[in-house]
Amino acid sequence: MCGIIGYVGNRKAQDVILKGLSRLEYRGYDSAGAAILNHDGVDLIKRQGKLKILADALAKKPIEGKTGIGHTRWATHGIPNDRNAHPHTDCTGKIAVVHNGIIENYLELKNSLLKDGHKFSSQTDTEVIPHLIEKFYKGDLEKAVVKAIKLLKGSYAIAVVHKDSPDRVVGARLDSPLVVGIGKGENFIASDVPAILDYTNSVLYLDNNEVVTITRSGVKVSDISGGQINKKPVKIKWDISAAEKSGYPHFMLKEIFEQADVLRKVLEERTERGKVSFEELKITDAELKKFKRIAIVACGTAYHAGLTGKYMLEEYAKIPVWVDTSSEFRYRDPIVGPGTLVIIVSQSGETADSLAALREAKKRGAKVLGICNVLGSSIAREADGVIYTHAGPEIAVASTKAYTAQLGILYLLTLYLARLHKTITPARYKGLLKEFERVPRLMDDLLGEYRSEYNTIAAYAQEFKRYYFARQNKSYFLYLARNINFPNALEGALKLKEISYISAEGYPAGEMKHGPIALIDENPWVVCIATQSKTYDKMLSNIQEIKARGGIIIAIATEGDKEILHHKVNYMLEIPKVAELFSPLLVVIPLQLLAYYVAKEFGYDIDQPRNLAKSVTVE
Ligand code: M6R
Repeated sequence: MCGIIGYVGNRKAQDVILKGLSRLEYRGYDSAGAAILNHDGVDLIKRQGKLKILADALAKKPIEGKTGIGHTRWATHGIPNDRNAHPHTDCTGKIAVVHNGIIENYLELKNSLLKDGHKFSSQTDTEVIPHLIEKFYKGDLEKAVVKAIKLLKGSYAIAVVHKDSPDRVVGARLDSPLVVGIGKGENFIASDVPAILDYTNSVLYLDNNEVVTITRSGVKVSDISGGQINKKPVKIKWDISAAEKSGYPHFMLKEIFEQADVLRKVLEERTERGKVSFEELKITDAELKKFKRIAIVACGTAYHAGLTGKYMLEEYAKIPVWVDTSSEFRYRDPIVGPGTLVIIVSQSGETADSLAALREAKKRGAKVLGICNVLGSSIAREADGVIYTHAGPEIAVASTKAYTAQLGILYLLTLYLARLHKTITPARYKGLLKEFERVPRLMDDLLGEYRSEYNTIAAYAQEFKRYYFARQNKSYFLYLARNINFPNALEGALKLKEISYISAEGYPAGEMKHGPIALIDENPWVVCIATQSKTYDKMLSNIQEIKARGGIIIAIATEGDKEILHHKVNYMLEIPKVAELFSPLLVVIPLQLLAYYVAKEFGYDIDQPRNLAKSVTVE
């Protein structure tokens, strides 16, 4: 978590830093700060709270200077306050450091630095870094940084400035992302591409144990033993408008509405003349044929996409699939080896648990396929093969379009493997692909219903809020579904709780009778996914059971379903008719919108919910 930026050039560093941090705020937003080099030395400013507070302070009292570093924080060590905000400095105040990651051995380092007489002023792990650099600095900042990072255990992406090394920023990384932006007469480093895309689309991705020095006139990358590395810049194809709200009140809403196009792109890029192809896969068909089973490993929403993948892969490609959360997988003794294809699904490609799971799987001899959104991310680079989702930057903390894109890729992978293993006939393959190709259009139609601010889901959210207060805040949500839509029940609940802070759980509807039904009285609102499917009748019985106990029901049904109306559901949301296999892609839209409108009703910060950050690069 945390976002860092460094700049050297001819612009006002303050402006570049603030703009860059505004594009990194999704990574953390409990405090922010900057250090700018000028004739006074290192001019430091830090503020607890959202970036706006720092921006307001800088508007009142601007800092001059054309070289600087900035940080937006998601607290790990030390509460969010001005003191713990980055940048952190050494005893002399000449060195300033911003850091993303965790220094696991900071206590040991701190104790030894304290013994040497260093004075600390924060509770952070980061503060050991400027003191170590101070200890090693003998006139060459890069050398001092290298000596310091050799002592660090954990993960870091850092940017460092020193009063006596004007016009230069030194950066380094280990297990936290760092990109270098190459401009004309100016250069940048940042945690993620959107931070620098206003100025350049030419970037280098720094690898682990690499150190970069940027000056106005150049970029030098070396490894920690001092060997220079020649890296080839990559051109970023999307422009900055993709990372802006474009008239929507929130990124989340914008990203929900982008989903039909995202899916269209997934299909266009991976299908040709009625066939699925994954050109960049780097895992051959012969290898794919040999895998006896698949393990899908991921976190959060990506995990839910993986769970849906299990249903489709097992049914159509006839391969046993197990799905695990990365944080569990990495600390178990997972039975994976050369016969297993491990698929790591991750929007950011930087999630620490997923990256560790990837390494564990590789260590055990498994082939790893990454399904990632962020180009050049750690998971994409370390996996044996990668399929990019190309959903464009996802800024809202609550993941929406990345989920759709992950599902899209998993559908195509299912068809690809089914064809390879000959588990479906060519005619069935063709028919399924055709049905899949209808989905973006159906999604357009469905989203079209919710374009107006005053739509059915917004009205239900208002109704929920009234009910919630009438029942002394005791109402909450349950999400029930069966079969391939069960992961959507988990996803609907996750979306709602992460942005509206209202308790929400997802269950397989058949599990209700084994315990959760004890919860049902007049308090919960129960979202029942009851679209046309082989388990439709079972869902209707579950609806009856909930109604009989006083629960309020929002049914998600297939359009034209008259039967469900006889079951006296309180509210209903329809999705267009589609084959059951592809229904999760449509069902998730009302679930995402319900979470969005409930959070909006309650007046919460939708794009930056409390305690969360977009990419979780710490354990
Ligand atoms: O970047 P990743 O896909 O690896 O992130 C995984 C989760 O942290 C992420 O999906 C998280 O659960 C979202 N906030 C959910 O909306």
